[in-house]
Amino acid sequence: MKRLTAVLLVLFVALSLFAEGGQQRAGGKTVIGIAMPETHVERWVKDGNQLKAEAEKRGYTGLVQWANADQPTQNQQIAGFLTQGAKALIVGNINDGVVSAVADANREKALIVAYDRIIQGTHDYGYFITFNNYKVGTLQGQSIVAGLNLDAATTAAPKHITLFAGSPTDANANFFFQGAMDVLLPYINKGVLSVVGPFPKHYSEPAFAQIATENWQAPIAKARMEALLVGDARNVTLDAVLAPNDTLARAILEACKADSKYQAKLPVTSGQDAEFDSAVSIKNGEQYSTVFKDTAKLAEAAIILADQLLKGQAVNVPGTVIADGDLKQIGFTGTGYVTTLLLDPILVTKDNIQVPVTAGFYTDAQAAQLK
Ligand code: GAL
Repeated sequence: MKRLTAVLLVLFVALSLFAEGGQQRAGGKTVIGIAMPETHVERWVKDGNQLKAEAEKRGYTGLVQWANADQPTQNQQIAGFLTQGAKALIVGNINDGVVSAVADANREKALIVAYDRIIQGTHDYGYFITFNNYKVGTLQGQSIVAGLNLDAATTAAPKHITLFAGSPTDANANFFFQGAMDVLLPYINKGVLSVVGPFPKHYSEPAFAQIATENWQAPIAKARMEALLVGDARNVTLDAVLAPNDTLARAILEACKADSKYQAKLPVTSGQDAEFDSAVSIKNGEQYSTVFKDTAKLAEAAIILADQLLKGQAVNVPGTVIADGDLKQIGFTGTGYVTTLLLDPILVTKDNIQVPVTAGFYTDAQAAQLK
């Protein structure tokens, strides 16, 4: 009788595992699908690899794919994760075309975490984890104020700035821009800073579309800067450029370097992501600043969040704060609010270029070049 009981027990366990619709992979590991947007911006390669490592450190199978900035491709990749039984999806989307994949994931009862880019057009998911993107922008604005010494500038000799923004498909770009504009506007209103080219005061204004850069494509920013230099900026010398991230900052500076007017002095140019090539540029006195977002910390926090949610535990992720007050807007999807966890960004200039180095953000060979 005992033998029969044992056999029946084993059979029951085996059937119950199978009954989960093959949700468990061989070896019984729960699958986490990691959908990254692109690789033409260096940080996303790191994000994807770090998310996979953090998932596997916690006993999950981490499947990662990059979508070459093409949302239909990413949607197919997400479908693939679901077919492989993913119980959680970490999604850095390209645009709101991801909404159909979110609906599919919900049907499969897979948990969705929007990763560093909010999923707009639905609040049919629970969590968004990112950096304080408004603060990213204020840091960019503050670096321009410092770089131009605007507190000592006069209306008799105003400084000139031109504005660039990130992709119009990426809600982060709105907050980067607004944080910077909210810092710069008092100097513009005082008359000590003058905007050359399109001048939106808020990302909701039509002029924002003229400074936005589709899919964060560096060639688009470079071409627009070249047109500005022979257009709106032909009769002035630009003292600064608001650039929303490092890939665009370097493309803009390439255009300036080809213009004789800027051989001796490049405009004070902001950035973001602490990319290695920009860290070198900052060290060499070309790009003025970047904003370091420790994506290793973001990846770890995202997996801790997913792990807590998968285990039905209370959400308590070290190194993050829940967006509240004015910052709650960062978690607005267009149709409602999702719980948003924020990490802190850090401004990096020539004076503290060692911050990302010390954080281990670069390879040893790269770090040696920044010593
Ligand atoms: C944003 C992200 C930034 C920037 C940009 C380009 O969503 O927050 O870090 O790199 O994408 O991919």
